[in-house]
Amino acid sequence: MTAIHAPRGTRDLYGDEMARFALIETEARSLLARYGYSEIRTPIFEARNLFERSVGDATDIVAKELYNFKDRKDREMALRPEGTAGVVRAYIQNNLGAAGLAKYFYLGPMFRYERPQGGRYRQFYQLGCELFGADSVAADLEIIGIAERFLANLSVDAKLKINFIGCAECKKAYAAAIAAFFLPHADSLCGDCQKRITKNPLRLLDCKVPACGTIAETVPDQSLCEKCSTRFISIERGLKELEVSFVIDRRMVRGLDYYTGIVFEMTSQNLDAQDAILGGGRYDELVGELGGPKTPAIGFAIGLDRLARLVVPPSENPAHGASRTPFVYVIGFPDDPTHAAMRFSEKLRDVFPEKRIEQGLVARSLKAHLREADKLGASYVVIIGEDEIGKGSVTIKKMQDGSQSTAPMSSDETILRESFK
Ligand code: HAM
Repeated sequence: MTAIHAPRGTRDLYGDEMARFALIETEARSLLARYGYSEIRTPIFEARNLFERSVGDATDIVAKELYNFKDRKDREMALRPEGTAGVVRAYIQNNLGAAGLAKYFYLGPMFRYERPQGGRYRQFYQLGCELFGADSVAADLEIIGIAERFLANLSVDAKLKINFIGCAECKKAYAAAIAAFFLPHADSLCGDCQKRITKNPLRLLDCKVPACGTIAETVPDQSLCEKCSTRFISIERGLKELEVSFVIDRRMVRGLDYYTGIVFEMTSQNLDAQDAILGGGRYDELVGELGGPKTPAIGFAIGLDRLARLVVPPSENPAHGASRTPFVYVIGFPDDPTHAAMRFSEKLRDVFPEKRIEQGLVARSLKAHLREADKLGASYVVIIGEDEIGKGSVTIKKMQDGSQSTAPMSSDETILRESFK
C-alpha cells in the first residue's frame, strides 16, 4: 500500500524544531503579558467574505492563495490566511472594545496556497499582536517596540523597514496616481495587473511578474497630506528617541488592503529568499468597514517558521538544556509485576515537580537500560529488581561516577532529597 504523506507545503513539527517553536511561544506569552496583552483564539476557518472585505479581494492572498471551500450547507468558507481579520471580527462580535483599549495576541496556523520553498509553507504559524482603541504615536511606537524587544530577547538580529500608507484620502490619491502611471504601459502588464489598474491600483506595486515589477520600480513616491506627513515625521522622531534603527522604504505597500498609516516589516540577513520575519501596520478603517464602531487599530504578525530558524536551539542553549535531560531514569527489572518502579516514579514526580523523571518502558536487559539512560543524559538511574523488591529498597546509581547507594522504597521526602542531591 502506498504511504500517505502530509500535503505539499505542510510539515510535521517535532524534535528540535518543535522545541524552538515552544521556546518562542513561551517567550511570547511571558513578554506580552508584561505589556498587558491577553491571548485570543479565533477559528481557523471563517466566512470567505471576511477575508475579501478586509485583506482585499484583489490581493494575491485572497485572489490566488486562499484555501476556500463550501461546507455541507453550501456556505462559502476559507481557512484563514492571516489573523487580523478574525481578531477584528471577534472584537466586533464580542464587543471587546466595551472596556476601552483592547490588547490581544494570538498564536496559531495560517494557510496560503503559495509555491512552497525554504521558509514558505502552505500551513505556517504566526504570533500576532493587535491593539484596538489607541490612535496615538505612542501606540505605534509600543507595537514596533514590542516586536523589537521580542526579537532582541531571542537574540535575533533583524532590520526594520517602515513606510506610511496614509489616510483614506492619501491612499485614494496614490491609487489614482499609480493607475495614471501604469495606464500607458497596460499592454506590457500581466492580465491580473491590467485588471488592477481599475480595480485596485495599489496592488500593481506587489505583482511578482518581472515585467510588471520593472515598471513598478519607476513609480513616483506617494505624496502625503499634511496630517499624514506630520504623523510620519513624529513616528520617525519617536523611533530615533527610542534608539530603534530603521530604514524608510517608500515602495513598501504590504500585500494587504487594510493598512492606513504606518506600515513596517522586519527582515533578517540570516534567512534565504523568504527573509521577512514580521509585518504589520495601522488599520484604522477596518473595524468600521467590517460593521463595528470606528476604532483605531494597529498590529503585527511574526512568522514563527522563519523565526524558529534563527533562534538558538534549546538543546544548545544551557538555559533550556536542563529540561531536556532526564534527571532520573527508573528501571523496573526484569518485568516489575507489581509496578513498584512505576509507583516509585510517581513518588519522585511528587517530590521533584521541577525535574524530569523517565520510566524505562521497554523490556530489555539491565545493560541495555543503562545504555539508554546514558544516551538520554540521565543523572541518576533507579533500579528496582527482584532483589530490591525482596528487601523493600531501591538501588540508586549516579551516572557521573558510577557510584551506587540504596534507599528504602518507602523513603520520605527528606531521604529522597538527600539521595538525589
Ligand atoms: P504578513 O506580512 O502577510 O502580515 O505576514 C506576516 C509574516 O508571516 C511574514 O512576515 C512572514 O514571516 C510570515 N508568513 C507569511 N506567509 C508565509 C508563508 N507562506 N510561509 C511562512 N511564513 C509566512 C499579516 O499576516 C498581517 N496580518 C500582519 C498584521 C497584524 N498587520 C496588522 N496586524
